[in-house]
Amino acid sequence: MSAGEPWWAESVIYQIYPRSFFDSNGDGEGDLPGITSHLEHVQSLGADAIWLSPFYTSPNKDGGYDVADPRGVDPRFGNLEDARAMIARAHQLGLRVLVDIVPNHFSDQHRWFKDAISAKPGSVERSRFHFYDPKADGTPPNNWISLFGGPAWTQVKSSDGSAQYYLHLFDSSQPDLNWDNQDVADDFEKTLRFWLDLGADGFRIDVAHGLAKENILVDHHDPQGLSDALRLDVEMSSEKRGELLSSVPFFDRDGVHPIYRNWRKLFDSYNRDVMAVAEAWVHPPVRATRYVRNDELQQVFNFDLLVAPFDAAFLYKCINDTLEMLRRVNAPATWALSNHDTPRVASRHGAKASRALALFVMALPGSCYIYNGQELGLPDAEIADADRQDPAFFRTKGVHKGRDGARVPMPWNGGQTPFGFSSGKPWLPIPENWRELSVSAQEADATSTLNLYRKALKIRKENLVGAGEIEWVDHGESGLISFARGEFAIYLNTSSTVLQIPSVGTLALGSDIDVTLENGSLTLPGATAAWVAIR
Ligand code: NOJ
Repeated sequence: MSAGEPWWAESVIYQIYPRSFFDSNGDGEGDLPGITSHLEHVQSLGADAIWLSPFYTSPNKDGGYDVADPRGVDPRFGNLEDARAMIARAHQLGLRVLVDIVPNHFSDQHRWFKDAISAKPGSVERSRFHFYDPKADGTPPNNWISLFGGPAWTQVKSSDGSAQYYLHLFDSSQPDLNWDNQDVADDFEKTLRFWLDLGADGFRIDVAHGLAKENILVDHHDPQGLSDALRLDVEMSSEKRGELLSSVPFFDRDGVHPIYRNWRKLFDSYNRDVMAVAEAWVHPPVRATRYVRNDELQQVFNFDLLVAPFDAAFLYKCINDTLEMLRRVNAPATWALSNHDTPRVASRHGAKASRALALFVMALPGSCYIYNGQELGLPDAEIADADRQDPAFFRTKGVHKGRDGARVPMPWNGGQTPFGFSSGKPWLPIPENWRELSVSAQEADATSTLNLYRKALKIRKENLVGAGEIEWVDHGESGLISFARGEFAIYLNTSSTVLQIPSVGTLALGSDIDVTLENGSLTLPGATAAWVAIR
């Protein structure tokens, strides 16, 4: 980081999915003491911070994103003392800690929702959520559809004869909160302070674009005529889904921004560089810059690379557009190739191409997010339907297989599954053929993906952080993108042909052993990347 830049501007942030990182007590699920004991792995990778997916009290219907007590630790992960110890250990190792905050909804097991169910229509208890009477014909108040499939409304029949519906954009066990209710805003401020006071350095904000809803009592009709109502068909392509979601009255409304302005004041009152990154799937992408205006949040995820094809021209446009639009609001870019919600990069593009893409992306200015296991080149695992846990699988009646394949526990060492992750039966089976992918197997192999990430992040820290903007050289023609940054030239070949590129430098790092630089010529085989020291 260059002088004067905040710590997050060019940070490497390692996402830990707590249930799948390391199990310390043999119950088959990862936990906080397991994270604490394995943070050295994150430090040795060269990360600056960790982001933990939720570990709060939760019935775990949606991987902990159904929070029953946002200021409590779920017993499956340990207790508050374990959280404190984990944060302290991370700080000792020089790692900052971001925790997830889930403000769009609570679990139906949260005390507030239980109170709302036993209270009457029109009560204070119900006003913290979105409870409405049915339409005259008894159907839900509007035609919105849950993102996990099925209607976004569930009916509650009470003994007083009332039969209101409540809104849930996700699973029926995740009732949406009503952000027009001051209790909701007050409670979240309490939660933010709670984790900051415990030592956290910031937050990842779940569904940051969803908190404000408009026109709840009106059916939504898609203005582009793509459908006569909001129909998120399970078979729909993600592109069409994105287009549809861009016009819905429950995402990316102006009403979310005052919330983040208030949060920003709270962060700044800590006088210690607190930051937050927004999960905001918005369309068109330029809308994302509204979340990082100078009195709002510090980062917003850029999801383009999570769904981008391995195509140089496409990648050039997506990276360049992102840098341009963020420059206008003076916010750092964020680059993520995998997370717990999308197929892993190694499955999307294959092992070789995913190494190349990762190497290329690690040289970009901005912040780089790495999802646990990405540094091992883990693919998505095949999961038997009987083992699946994702509510999206159940709500779509199996049409969408869900996200479990990207959430399989980490292989650490040893010759047999579960490869040191747990002394018990892991909550999702770890494939036998991940033996070669374990941390210890890869540590022993100089050409492994793990060692590639380690070397890249070391060079990045020593030479690229603070090196300023990039100067594009190739824009995707013939499958090649390249740029100069600081003392390096960075190349990515997405084609399947070998490229010979005249070069005056020395090869600092190639994504594979077949990348070479001899006699002034860089050999860049198909699906490889290179970092060349040019000065
Ligand atoms: C986004 C989270 O990343 C995802 O895992 C979760 O299912 C939804 N938000 C709902 O909280």
